[in-house]
Amino acid sequence: MRDTTNPVAQCLPIVQNPESRIMASINRMTTLAKEISENTAIITDYLTSKGLEAASFDVNGLAEFPIPREDEVPFKARLDLAAATKELYDISVGPQQALRDLAWDCADSLSLHAVWDFDIARAVPLEGTISYEELTAKVEALNNGLPIGVLNLRRLVRHAMTNRIFCEPVKNHVAHTRTSRLLLEDEPLKNWAGFMSQDIWPAVANVVKAMRKWPASEEPTETSVNLTNGQSLPWFDYLQQDPVLNKRYNLAMQSHGGAAGYAVELVVQGYDWASLGEATVVDMGGNQGYISFAIAEAFPNLKFVVQDQAGMRTPETIGKVPDHLTQRVTLTTHDFFTPQTEVAKCYFFRHIFHGFSDKYSIKILQALVPALRKGSLVIINDGALPEPGTVSYLEERLMRTMDVFMQVTVNAREREADDWTDLFARADRRYRVNRVWKPERSALALIEAEWTAE
Ligand SMILES: C[S@@+](CC[C@H](N)C(=O)[O-])C[C@H]1O[C@@H](n2cnc3c(N)ncnc32)[C@H](O)[C@@H]1O
Repeated sequence: MRDTTNPVAQCLPIVQNPESRIMASINRMTTLAKEISENTAIITDYLTSKGLEAASFDVNGLAEFPIPREDEVPFKARLDLAAATKELYDISVGPQQALRDLAWDCADSLSLHAVWDFDIARAVPLEGTISYEELTAKVEALNNGLPIGVLNLRRLVRHAMTNRIFCEPVKNHVAHTRTSRLLLEDEPLKNWAGFMSQDIWPAVANVVKAMRKWPASEEPTETSVNLTNGQSLPWFDYLQQDPVLNKRYNLAMQSHGGAAGYAVELVVQGYDWASLGEATVVDMGGNQGYISFAIAEAFPNLKFVVQDQAGMRTPETIGKVPDHLTQRVTLTTHDFFTPQTEVAKCYFFRHIFHGFSDKYSIKILQALVPALRKGSLVIINDGALPEPGTVSYLEERLMRTMDVFMQVTVNAREREADDWTDLFARADRRYRVNRVWKPERSALALIEAEWTAE
């Protein structure tokens, strides 16, 4: 069903009569204001009844709303509130001004980048304020005496303040907000801010140039990060040759993957693993095996072979299988572009395919074929794009942004339900997709395909 609070699904009726149009536009504002008030009441009543705080920008405030997805009514009210306030904001600004603003809001990334790169959050006291002069001296000292100058620092910090990063309670004196404090204390989120504003932002600006240079490319070496950084390695190889960047990326992904919809228990509970009986599951690209550990823990009839690239299995990088699982989980190496030799009931891929274009995803599915027997299963746990306009504004925005970023770094994409069926059919007609579904609360979908052998 289409969600009418989602701008993708909103095309207001074309009203020919000017009087009706006047009424429709005014009514929309009134409806939104009412929705905002009603949803705010649902949220505040919920918080009051539980003695909880609302999120706030107060330096000691709550950085995240304490409303779990399980509490469906207030959880939905918060999503609807965000959508309605955004729409009312957009209407109050008006399409013309909104477009002008959109085009130069890249300044947001600039001020965020400066705050992160110069480590300004570290120079602002958690209690009280600091003058711009003192702040500049401290930031310059933190940056090995790099001259930045009060004027430059002040303009960037004051721009960041328009995004609630720092505030100026007394003229010329800077203090922390809850947001700027996160840049001081939340290591994964701080790295997310740095990774996006320093490492990815220049490449975002070059995507269209890359599309013109390498039209319709599905190659992981013809991306905007290749163009921007003047190098021809695939993204993950590029990351691995730069330990500082690699660490930043991993911490940034921790911040992103730490979001509720990616929790490990969602895949443990989301698939009927017991239905496999006594079986072996090959966890392909399974990293250090933490997903297999969690499933093995809950389903004692299953054995796991966790395959990943050789680089993940060197003495320095290899993880440890918990003692009580060593009989049932093994960590091995296998490149999933080469023919599979491990014959098993089930091949499991979590967060793999969204990193590859169709061309390479098809190769991965074809490389499995030598090991498949009639009834073998391929289970995929990966991103799933919603049908346009069928989810809340916030969810739609998250998924569309993820999809775009897959293009920036790897020329890959997120997929809709139909895309998965199409992918298997193109890999080999002997695959049959049984089901594509999204477990409750999960940000990732599950796709189950079966090898029919005919
Ligand atoms: C995004 S991580 C997903 C890890 C794990 N499946 C999870 O859900 O947390 C992608 C994994 O694929 C592995 N990988 C990339 N290319 C591979 C290849 N050609 N063969 C095997 N593993 C590969 C990476 O080393 C990494 O561990």
